[in-house]
Amino acid sequence: MSKISVIGAGAVGSATAYALLIQEVTNHVVLYDVATEKVEAEVLDLAHGTLYTGASRITGGSDIQETAGSDLVIITAGAKQKPGQSRLDLAGTNTAILQNLMPQLLNLSPEAIFILVTNPCDVLATVAQRLSGLPPARVFASGTVLDSARLRWLLAERLGVASASVHAYIIGEHGDSEFALWSQARVGPIPLADWRLADGSRLSAEDFEQIALEVKNAAYRVIQGKGATNYAIGLSAAKIASAILSDSNEILPVSSVLSGYHGISGIALSVPTIVNRSGAVRPLDLAMTAAEQAKLKNSADAITANLVSLGY
Ligand code: LAC
Repeated sequence: MSKISVIGAGAVGSATAYALLIQEVTNHVVLYDVATEKVEAEVLDLAHGTLYTGASRITGGSDIQETAGSDLVIITAGAKQKPGQSRLDLAGTNTAILQNLMPQLLNLSPEAIFILVTNPCDVLATVAQRLSGLPPARVFASGTVLDSARLRWLLAERLGVASASVHAYIIGEHGDSEFALWSQARVGPIPLADWRLADGSRLSAEDFEQIALEVKNAAYRVIQGKGATNYAIGLSAAKIASAILSDSNEILPVSSVLSGYHGISGIALSVPTIVNRSGAVRPLDLAMTAAEQAKLKNSADAITANLVSLGY
């Protein structure tokens, strides 16, 4: 038996709960929010469909005690980006919410693993790790799992192969300083740089630049059109949860507090990481070009500056 609590019943939290249910990631999903009427309606709507979700069920409401004894706590609560607003712009508001929630959640589920989805998720994962004192493996963010899924989808469409066969990562900040680790990207066994398109040509430098930009701006484009992103981030959070509860040792670019990683320590950034029942257990040491190392440092500087502005 397992229990996952989703904190926040907004567009992201509800989509996350839905993804957990339909993929039967856990036996029991709890959805919590301070907005009683909203969360009770979301729980009821989701519960009405659990005839079709196998062994998984949902409960919840505005009593945080219902999250007690969770194996996994997925935090989505907080303000969302407005059109054109950066994720880092949300730091002040969402850090205050986290500072209130984290002690309560940890007290109710002292053995849980915590996944920060709320943005700016790298900043919030760092704050949550410092507030809780938990090892970085047990409190981390979804990071660029979603961005890497966007990248793999775009490349798969472009190259005519399955996205599961495109091994490419967005790393660094889940935000404006994120970047594609092109030097390590492969399509099946073939380095992406060597992949031949149908006309025998290779992707150009402009192609790489355009694809990376499209990934970086993906959320802004969706938010402009529908006010929020929710389905893909919900599925990404469910993927991380599944890797944890199934003890899969999958490699996912989650964002955990790094220690001596290419000279970066004390802040959370996304790098490909082994994820299993103990959490984000091993950020993988990667070969990077000098340009890629500079971009990672740029991400680190952006997160550090935001933390300093918050008094951390
Ligand atoms: C996005 C949000 C989850 O990238 O930051 O869609």
